Amino acid sequence: MSPRTLLALNWKMNKTPTEARAWGRELARSYRRGTVEVAVMAPAVSLYGLKEAMPGGVDIGAQDVSAHESGAHTGEISAAMLRDAECTYVIVGHSERRTDHAETDALVAAKARQAQAQGLTPIVCVGEGLEVRERGEHVEHTLAQLRGSLDGVDERVVIAYEPVWAIGTGKTATAEDAEAMAAAIRGALREHYGDLADSLRVLYGGSVKPDNVAAICAQPNVNGALVGGASLKVEDVLAMLSALE
Ligand code: 13P
Repeated sequence: MSPRTLLALNWKMNKTPTEARAWGRELARSYRRGTVEVAVMAPAVSLYGLKEAMPGGVDIGAQDVSAHESGAHTGEISAAMLRDAECTYVIVGHSERRTDHAETDALVAAKARQAQAQGLTPIVCVGEGLEVRERGEHVEHTLAQLRGSLDGVDERVVIAYEPVWAIGTGKTATAEDAEAMAAAIRGALREHYGDLADSLRVLYGGSVKPDNVAAICAQPNVNGALVGGASLKVEDVLAMLSALE
């Protein structure tokens, strides 16, 4: 059975806690629960207030988590803290963190394992940069990243394929490109998890918006989207949901 579509929203470093609460209240005024699952990945300081303002049935999540369990790691946030703040998901290995903070596949896997140890579902991000795509090495590059980032990670995981050249650029992969990579990812997941791979969600991310979300998510191996820019306005989120329903 194919998994329920997930519309995962990544606010990145946007919105103060006050703005986050206002966003949650605005969503609550118009949101009607449908067949699509929605989750908002907010900056850590906003999670608590956001959850209170959010309509029932919409999950929250974080954008990163420490690879350590607890203790002397100044500035880090543990999976247990995120769980206590009622997070369901946490993004790990976003390309912006891989680039800005030199996160390796091994570190990403360690973060995903910490998340799972606390009952959170990690959303593991993979995807190639423009040069790799132009060399035609995007499939092998992305699958190598995937295998490294799933070391010791069990099947309670979501994968997001986000080609770096499509993030925040307005350049979306075509629905066919997204499907080709999602199918390759599904194949690698089958090697790792056997038949369970068919029930795992593979998302596409990179310039997803109301007018392209439905075509991308209609692809057989694409089970939802991870959305940056178009997640910031409630109006765009509602438009994406109605396009998907
Ligand atoms: P955009 O939707 O702004 O391209 O961002 C995609 C992304 O990085 C989501 O994690």
